[in-house]
Formats: sequence, structure tokens, C-alpha cells
Amino acid sequence: KLLQSSKTAILAGMVLAGGITAAMAQTTLTVTHSSPADSHFGLAAAAFKKVAEEKSGGTINVVIQRMDNEREALESVQFGSQECAMGSAGPLGNFVAETRVLDVPFLFDSYDHARGVLDSDVGSELLALFPARGLYGVAWLENGFRNLTTGNKTVNSPEDLRGMKIRTMENQVHMQAWQAAGVLPTPMAFSELPSALQQGTVDGQENPIPVILSNNLDMMQKHLYLTRHVYSPGIFVCNPDFIAGLTEEQKAAVEEGGKAASSANRARVEQDETAGIETLRTRGIEVVEVADRDAYRQAMASANAAFETQFGADLIKRIRDWK
Ligand code: PAF
Repeated sequence: KLLQSSKTAILAGMVLAGGITAAMAQTTLTVTHSSPADSHFGLAAAAFKKVAEEKSGGTINVVIQRMDNEREALESVQFGSQECAMGSAGPLGNFVAETRVLDVPFLFDSYDHARGVLDSDVGSELLALFPARGLYGVAWLENGFRNLTTGNKTVNSPEDLRGMKIRTMENQVHMQAWQAAGVLPTPMAFSELPSALQQGTVDGQENPIPVILSNNLDMMQKHLYLTRHVYSPGIFVCNPDFIAGLTEEQKAAVEEGGKAASSANRARVEQDETAGIETLRTRGIEVVEVADRDAYRQAMASANAAFETQFGADLIKRIRDWK
């Protein structure tokens, strides 16, 4: 409430149909996102701004800001020092532990599969857990299927990865899976990645095509292996007290804006997965279509028993079997 009243301004001079001038309260909603403006998250934020401002009749003013540290962005939303944030769901499990089930490697076969699950009861049931953890989940977004990149070292099979230092997100499930494959996972915030790659602190990293492309990671890496080993969801969250303080019209505008953000985000991921891979090839990174993805699935498989204990074999099966 405090957050909202401090950010509510009086927008004077609104001209009503009859020509009468009225004073209207305008609420500022700052949303941060973790990639450049021309990226899957940047476009999602822009689509949200357009729709939320329009549908709220101009009573919401959306301010878009870039903030690369996704864990800090979620903390700020939870604390109430910023209203909303968009980004990958990488650090989300530190806030809503149950969402970590979505990070299990080779859980989803395709974008249709992942989107279908997030749009189904499974996605809604997970979003329903957010308010008790100080967050309001507006919409699932997506970051994309993650792929491995390396600098000087080449990877012909998962065996070659043994002992390599690979930067991962600060995500326990990803780290457990890489450990199972004999990798030394090196978690760090994305903002620290360029210097870690340049200084050789890590041998490689893994990220979806939209991230590799929009952040020019190909300039720092020589090989891109299309391992698609794990789907990386995205999330759009707001502060629950902020949402509770909105009018019904404003709440509906935020929800509509969330849907627009999700569509824009998915459309851009799709474009990057086709044209974007070609762009990367042209820019000079070696792009390797991994014929034996199953070898990576097998290499990480010894972590599966722990995932079943952690998240429940039934839920994992429900997600895998989604049609
Ligand atoms: O690797 C990450 O940390 C995430 O994929 C990123 C790049 C922050 C998503 O925007």
C-alpha cells in the first residue's frame, strides 16, 4: 500500500467526453527485465506496457528498466521496492521451491509441450503458490531450451564434459543435473558471465538461443552445441500488495498485459530458434546440431531419482505425459 500511494500521481487535465476536465489518479508500475530491449524479454515488457496502459485507460504508467540480476529483481518485488519483474525462472525456485520441478532436464520434448503444461492446471497450480511467498505470478513467459557453448574446448560427446567448468544459473536442479554428468557447475549471476568467459574462469556456459543472440555471447565463445538439455521457463511477477491496491479495471489491464507479454515473448523465441540460429552461424560461431541428445539425457539420468523424491514421481509423470 505504501508503495502504491508513494507512486500514485494525480494526472490533471484529462478531458472527458463532455469536455469537462477531471483529475485522475495515475499509478506508476516499474517492470524490470533481464535482457536487451530487442530480445524475448524486452519485447514482452514493451507489449505489456502498451496493453496495460491502454486497458487501464491511462491510469497505469508502465516504466521499463533493465536489471540483469534476476534474483535481486525477485527480491525487490517481494520486498516491495519495485512493482514487477520479468525474466527467466532460473532463481524462482529460491522463492517458490515447487517451481523447481520445471527445471528438470529433458522434462519437455518441445516448445508445444512446455507451453501446453504452463498453460494447463499445472501452471496455474504453481502460480497459486506465489502469494504465500510474497509474489504475485501474472504470467508464465519463456527463456527457451538451453544449449551448451564452449570457448577453446570441443565437445564430441557428454564424456568430454567431465571435469569441465560450466557456468550455470543459481539453480539447484540444473547444478545437480550437471554434477551427475561429471561437470563442475559454476553458478553465478549472468552479469558476471562475460568476464568469467573472457578470463577463462569457466570453460563454457549454457543458455537459450534468444539469450546467446541478444547478448552476443557468440563473440566470447567458439562452439554452440544444440543440446536443448533443459527448458528454461520465464516468469512475470508483481508485488501482491501492489496488485491488491489496484482498481478492478487496473487489475484486468495487468492481466491482459500479461497475456500480451507472453505472446510477444513466445513469438520472439520462435523467431530466434529459426532465423536466429542462422544469424549466429553467419556471425561465425560453430553451430553443432547434436545428433545424439539421448547421450546427454543418459549422462544426467542419475539425478532423476533425487528429482522424483524432491518433486514427486506423480507430478513429474503428469508433466511428461501431458498431451
Ligand atoms: O543464464 C541466465 O542467467 C538467464 O538465462 C538469463 C540470461 C539471465 C535470462 O535472461
